[in-house]
Amino acid sequence: MNLTGKFIGVGVGPGDPELITIKAVKALKNADVICVPKSHANKPSRALGMIKQIVKERQHPPEMLELVFPMTKDELSLKKLWAENAKVVSAKVKAGKSLVFITLGDPMLYSTFMYLYRSIKQSYPNLQLEIIPGVTSVTAAAASAQLPLAEKDEVVSIVPSDLDAQLIEETAKHADTLVFMKCAHRIKELVPVLQQAGFTENSTIALVKRCTLPEEKVLTGKLGNVQEWDITEDYFSVAIIKRSELPTNKKVDAE
Ligand SMILES: C[S@@+](CC[C@H](N)C(=O)[O-])C[C@H]1O[C@@H](n2cnc3c(N)ncnc32)[C@H](O)[C@@H]1O
Repeated sequence: MNLTGKFIGVGVGPGDPELITIKAVKALKNADVICVPKSHANKPSRALGMIKQIVKERQHPPEMLELVFPMTKDELSLKKLWAENAKVVSAKVKAGKSLVFITLGDPMLYSTFMYLYRSIKQSYPNLQLEIIPGVTSVTAAAASAQLPLAEKDEVVSIVPSDLDAQLIEETAKHADTLVFMKCAHRIKELVPVLQQAGFTENSTIALVKRCTLPEEKVLTGKLGNVQEWDITEDYFSVAIIKRSELPTNKKVDAE
């Protein structure tokens, strides 16, 4: 057990276990407790799947603490839940334990971690906290699609695709590159919205599903052709849309 307890939010990357940072691996090897966030008690945790080898190789297995954060927009019940989980976490940290909270990608990008972090910071301001960044699904998707997110003075906007269409259009007007998260199911519906914002038929789009995992799928092509794409719904997808055209030497998978 550590003399001084600590709560550490750790990004475990987009899926490929080799994309976990050395610092994250060290924290996972030394943790007394690994906190595993779940959207439902009976659902497996993807983040846990990514670190299972590291845990398996440990001589002294850590305590595994499942924390359930259901996917609800009911702010009041969520706040109550974060407060309850913050209480559990803080009691262990106060007892001198080091707790690692695993999170997909990076802890500071659309992650449950930040809500828990805020709740802890508010109710237990003296606890030691640390955040270890991770490879985000955004940068991993760009690498998989081999499509730069930004060059020179280009502006990148990251948008959750369930945002109101008008807000998406306004954002798109000021962006050279748009990144949609939580997106596969809505991408066809958003094409006219992007065209209203000045993107053209020839603008470039890459849709990356399950990036860096063995089942990864990358579709690259022109915005004007997206309606012909066979897109199945997948929460684990990122779309990158660039105002500019695809370089002529780039292989196009779907047109
Ligand atoms: C709650 S957010 C978590 C983002 C995460 N913290 C990050 O840094 O990438 C979940 C969204 O991340 C994206 N995502 C996460 N992992 C992904 C993957 N392996 N492939 C494609 N998209 C992924 C999807 O858009 C998904 O809907």
